Amino acid sequence: MQVIQRVVELRQHLEPLRQAGKRIGFVPTMGNLHEGHLQLIRLARQQADIVVASIFVNPLQFGLNEDWEQYPRTLERDSAMLVAEGCDVLFCPTDREMYPNGMETQTKVEVPTMTNILCGASRPGHFLGVTTVVAKLFNMVQPHVAVFGIKDYQQLAVIRRMTEDLCIPVGIIAAPIARADDGLALSSRNGYLTAEERPRAVALYQALCRAREAIAGGRRDYATIEKEARETLAESGMRPDYFSVRHARTLEAASPDDRDLVLLGAVYLGKTRLIDNVSVSI
Ligand code: PAF
Repeated sequence: MQVIQRVVELRQHLEPLRQAGKRIGFVPTMGNLHEGHLQLIRLARQQADIVVASIFVNPLQFGLNEDWEQYPRTLERDSAMLVAEGCDVLFCPTDREMYPNGMETQTKVEVPTMTNILCGASRPGHFLGVTTVVAKLFNMVQPHVAVFGIKDYQQLAVIRRMTEDLCIPVGIIAAPIARADDGLALSSRNGYLTAEERPRAVALYQALCRAREAIAGGRRDYATIEKEARETLAESGMRPDYFSVRHARTLEAASPDDRDLVLLGAVYLGKTRLIDNVSVSI
């Protein structure tokens, strides 16, 4: 596996491969890799000849009081995992390489819809940071396809919209949520959970599944379903941020006529923020 830090070297490495007709698959990450990321790499491998992963803990998408500084940097371990998965290129730019003119004056890419609701409401500026860095990474790697996890459902929807609006020639592939045996969605942030919190963390997924069953069973009183779920989560010791039934594509509040729905939840368990979602078609 080639480990590359500079954009110019990345281009030099990838251009001849692209010219030779190789399809390039891209998996952007912030490192601290787990099985969920490896599934993204495998999906990229199925769709492409050359797999490029990036690791960049993007300061632009973290709020002032968020965990950018404490976010685990585990490059050596991540790198070994990517080698074992047969990844071809690891691109790990420095902050300076990504933002040579500084972050303040960086040109930003903003998706105006879907970004100030749900996670965007509690993390102002988060999606602006995500879309800006992903647009830059797309320009750097110029992949044919890029793989994103459905676990970050809103991020995936926002990136799809950005790609469509800016006519970026990349196919966006959605990877299913990888879960632990008890159902907890795999996430780099699960590592923040204490031993006491970890078994309780599955309550979010359980609440989502219960709400999905209620909807599949015919209930359309979404506001009540959301309220009940928030109460159950609070009773199980979590601080719900949101629990919401939404239109699967637009992420607008679901109406009883909508057919494709997504149920999204975010909670704090101790200091850890967990997100998860399930889909249902009716
Ligand atoms: O999902 C992530 O890990 C990040 O938001 C991403 C897409 C790599 C952008 O920094």
